Amino acid sequence: MTFVKTRDLAKYEGKEVTLKGWVYQIRDHGKIMFYFLRDGYGFCQITIKKNIVGEDNFKTAKEIYREASVIISGTVKKDARAEGGFEVLASTVRVWNPSHPQIDQEVTPDSGPDIMLDKRHFVIRGRRTRAILKYRSDALRYFREYFYENDLFEVTPPLIVETLPEGGSDLFEIKYFEKKAYLSQSSQLYLEAAIFSLGNVFTILPSYRAEKSRTKRHLSEYTHVEAELSWVDFDDLTDFMQEMLIYVIKRSEEDSEDVFSDLDIKPFKPKTPFEKVPYKKALEIVRELGWEIEDGEDISDAPERDLVAKYGNPIYLTEFPVNMKPFYHKISEKDPSVTLSADLLVPVVGELIGSGERETDLNSLLTRLKAMGLNPDPYYWYTDLRKYGSVPHSGFGLGFERFVQWVLQVEHIRDTTLFPRTRFRLRP
Ligand code: 4AD
Repeated sequence: MTFVKTRDLAKYEGKEVTLKGWVYQIRDHGKIMFYFLRDGYGFCQITIKKNIVGEDNFKTAKEIYREASVIISGTVKKDARAEGGFEVLASTVRVWNPSHPQIDQEVTPDSGPDIMLDKRHFVIRGRRTRAILKYRSDALRYFREYFYENDLFEVTPPLIVETLPEGGSDLFEIKYFEKKAYLSQSSQLYLEAAIFSLGNVFTILPSYRAEKSRTKRHLSEYTHVEAELSWVDFDDLTDFMQEMLIYVIKRSEEDSEDVFSDLDIKPFKPKTPFEKVPYKKALEIVRELGWEIEDGEDISDAPERDLVAKYGNPIYLTEFPVNMKPFYHKISEKDPSVTLSADLLVPVVGELIGSGERETDLNSLLTRLKAMGLNPDPYYWYTDLRKYGSVPHSGFGLGFERFVQWVLQVEHIRDTTLFPRTRFRLRP
């Protein structure tokens, strides 16, 4: 038997089709009932009439609860009032699983955030979360499209590691047979090695940060979109990232309209070019906005968001002092006190991307590794990259959940991921 998807009903007007899915809502009007069916691809109204399906089948159709799984055959009819402009007039209803009367107590409009998280396996069936998850799938495709169009190869570096790009803080330590290992914070160092084989590479994998802070933009496991480009300097890199974001947002407007309409929002349209704001200037602005902040101090979440709100558009935060950034950032030749790095900040969310041109000078790397308190020995393979055929190169890492949060205007990052991992959340 071939099944039709709810989103394709328009192609089958007047024809008999079979749909399979879950009953999202039920309205019972005695001799006529309406199911609102969800099949993963969309929603559709099913009209069930006693005189058409017959007494026995009608009784079966009535003895179900929300979230029952059903297989329905019927005729596709135009109906301006129905979602998508079509409904199915059922000829048979087969109940695969009738669900359970308790379903209405599992999650209610009064359920608090902890219950919603415990019951996330139900929450993801809801319209809003389904739309967000659908967009995740769409946007991952758009990022990959952009990378393929720009001739990048996808690689999948290991996530169990002994070398750390982002230094010693926020690490998940694990037992690896007789050794100590860590969950990867970023694939960057491996991507840097991979350019020597494939030229330009990207990866989309989880990264792990043992974040103790409970903020609306931190997860302990997040999806990291990272790329590394050979023979690319800092300015080319910032152009590449700007183009990438514009591309993904444009593709979203073209092909993810269903998501925007389900969430009742309009996509944010960034203006180009994204302004480059040196750290020193950013400090002045943040102070003018009323925040107290010392020279050389990290601009934390709230002032960062105020800063980008002032621009109302993505900005690159550049020229960070050398000691504020990890060892791998190239030091500017024009001003050796700063790095050739850029954090891309976006409205509402704040930092979305960490990026920069990479240090190619072996001695500078070794000195800074030690200054960060890291033993250079396990980094032998990374420092070898500077010895054997080193090339100028640049790269970035984008927090995919923060991207979704920005584009879909989601208040809390935990709502952008299937089953979030945060400081106090390990289940489901
Ligand atoms: O700025 P970060 O730490 O940069 C790196 O890891 C680089 N090695 C990436 C690279 O150049 N290949 O992290 C990059 C991005 C941040 O801008 C942020 O969007 C996201 O990763 N991120 C998080 N997202 C969710 N939860 C967390 N705890 C995050 N920590 C970082």
